[in-house]
Amino acid sequence: MAIDVAVAGGHGRIALRLLRLLAERGDRARGLVRNPDHAPDLEAAGATAVEADLEALDPEAIASGIAGADAVVFSAGAGPGSGPARKRTVDYGAAVKLIDACRAAGVARYLMVSAMGVHDPVARGPEMRPYYEAKLEADQALAASGLDYTIVRPGRLTDERGTGLVQAAPRLERGGQITRDDVAATLLACLGEPGTVGREFDLLAGETSIAEAIAAV
Ligand SMILES: NC(=O)c1ccc[n+]([C@@H]2O[C@H](COP(=O)([O-])OP(=O)(O)OC[C@H]3O[C@@H](n4cnc5c(N)ncnc54)[C@H](OP(=O)(O)O)[C@@H]3O)[C@@H](O)[C@H]2O)c1
Repeated sequence: MAIDVAVAGGHGRIALRLLRLLAERGDRARGLVRNPDHAPDLEAAGATAVEADLEALDPEAIASGIAGADAVVFSAGAGPGSGPARKRTVDYGAAVKLIDACRAAGVARYLMVSAMGVHDPVARGPEMRPYYEAKLEADQALAASGLDYTIVRPGRLTDERGTGLVQAAPRLERGGQITRDDVAATLLACLGEPGTVGREFDLLAGETSIAEAIAAV
């Protein structure tokens, strides 16, 4: 059965890949974007753009953009060029607003694109610490929210072609990278795997099929 998914940060590089995968299999794919000029790129992926600046809007306004969705995915990010203030308002604040919007709209399922290494922000150095603190606090808020959450923590993201082969576990003891293609494919798989509800896991390139890897987390 087709599902309806709203992806926050809809013009992001993981988000566009996920929206395309959803549209290709006949699901309803909407992307929340802050810049209306990004709408044509979403339409080219088979998705619909919903204008929603997650820093500017309150949760009730965001709720109207996700109303009727079966699931949301948080894949927004302030990005490497931003300072600590926007890490708070996007990487933490927007993620938490989306939790509140889900409650207001009656959307139970929430997938978070987090990051490997969030558990020890201090170890990431003074420049990266605000980012990891924001991501960790957002993850903690989601885990405590009562929503049907899944927290996916990828390693360093690359734009190479996906392989469909990953390594996933609640905590991986090595660092590494993963393609945005494979993160998007993993998110898609999680949407169809109820066993991932209430789970959080690190994700790297590996040797296991995505279906098998997420079934084991
Ligand atoms: N880079 C890494 O190695 C790495 C590793 C692990 C996890 N992550 C996480 O992975 C996620 C996705 O990564 P990505 O590479 O796909 O990200 P990306 O390409 O940088 O996309 C992030 C998106 O967030 C949007 N955004 C920013 N502020 C917003 C706001 N106020 N309202 C709505 N949208 C807003 C941006 O929109 P604009 O285009 O309008 O700015 C952009 O489209 C992020 O959460 C990131 O923190 C990254």
